Amino acid sequence: MPNTILIGSQWGDEGKGKIIDVLTAQADMIVRYQGGSNAGHTVIAEGEKRVLRLVPSGILHEGKVCVIGNGVVMNPLDLIDEIEMLRSTGIECQGRLYISTRTQMVMLYHRALDKADEAARPVGKKIGTTGRGIGPAYAAKVSRTGLRCGDMLIPEFPELVREQVLETNAKLAQLNAEPLDADEMVKTYIEAAEKLRPYIIDTIPLIHKADRAGQSILLEGAQGTMLDIDFGTYPFVTSSNPTSGGACIGSGLSPRRIDRVIGVIKAYTTRVGEGPFPTEDFGEVGKTLAERGHEFGAVTGRPRRCGWFDAVVARYAQMVNGVDFWTMTKLDVMDTLPEIKICVAYELDGKRIEDMPASAAELARCKPIYETMPGWLEETSNVTSMDQLPLKAKAYVERLVELSGGRLGILSVGPARESTIRVGI
Ligand code: IMP
Repeated sequence: MPNTILIGSQWGDEGKGKIIDVLTAQADMIVRYQGGSNAGHTVIAEGEKRVLRLVPSGILHEGKVCVIGNGVVMNPLDLIDEIEMLRSTGIECQGRLYISTRTQMVMLYHRALDKADEAARPVGKKIGTTGRGIGPAYAAKVSRTGLRCGDMLIPEFPELVREQVLETNAKLAQLNAEPLDADEMVKTYIEAAEKLRPYIIDTIPLIHKADRAGQSILLEGAQGTMLDIDFGTYPFVTSSNPTSGGACIGSGLSPRRIDRVIGVIKAYTTRVGEGPFPTEDFGEVGKTLAERGHEFGAVTGRPRRCGWFDAVVARYAQMVNGVDFWTMTKLDVMDTLPEIKICVAYELDGKRIEDMPASAAELARCKPIYETMPGWLEETSNVTSMDQLPLKAKAYVERLVELSGGRLGILSVGPARESTIRVGI
């Protein structure tokens, strides 16, 4: 398999976990390049469901090497839990999982700051974060006060943690939140460092050695294009770059070594947290999609907002990421809808627009312009080739791809590995 970047094209939760799992079979190394334990990649294999937040889902395939890249913000305590959860199911990470010395850490004090900051924001200014400390950890990175995984290996580590706890306590006091116990925090992280020590290495030579040896590398993104700190619906975004450009920054693999970009896109749209969402449906359709699609956050359990497919979003994702192939997921969720709408453009202040506005305030004023197609009212979850799809379902998929640009690579009609139709890749 060529070196591949896999990205989410909407507001996250497109079903990347399953697709990464499917593509991993052909990859040698899987690298996670951004985000942290705000992500939840759900994989169902041989009837067992697992949610992975930090460890690349490639770990579920024997012999694959997994890397947590420098662009990730890694919570040591979450990672230890995940390694132990995997161990309890017979999967050993040591010797197959590597964490970059350059990876920034999300600490308990970032989590406390995240929660205090959200609580202090007035209604209308809340982001609806996952509360996992992601924003404060990336803020620490760019303000050059963050701790990196490599710091866990040096003797000064306990003092570095203490300094940061004391600094954070001053910020928490301003937000009227409880201070944290520095001694307890230092003890917690000394223990964590001992456990994670064997996994932390300079991953740049590791990745490049694999590339030079002709191995195939899969770069896995979390969240989605519309949550990108630069390209998303700012400020209602996450604090990293889930888009394909972020894959090189977050892994150390050069852009010249990337062969293709695969965009994962759901056959309808969902969003968790605050922020504009033009095709959101507050009626029966939204309810049906939420129920049939099990649209609840894999990490927070929050219900996801649901609505029709938005081709303006898809076209934008195509431009920003350079999607070569689409992987369309969850078509089967729409099996019971008698009529289906697709948003093809927006109306903004009385004018038709085809491109994504940069401002969230403008996007909030956009009204979707819909095209309507008949539903297929047949089950698709047992279909194994494009030819077996009901004609109306096939027409819907083809229209989405036409409106979005690019080509169809994979169609997914159910959560299991087996419910996957390979088309172009
Ligand atoms: P944060 O990443 O926790 O700071 O949250 C910022 C925004 O991104 C919120 O709207 C979250 O709901 C959203 N978000 C973060 N991670 C995910 C994800 O994995 N799926 C969907 N939305 C997410």
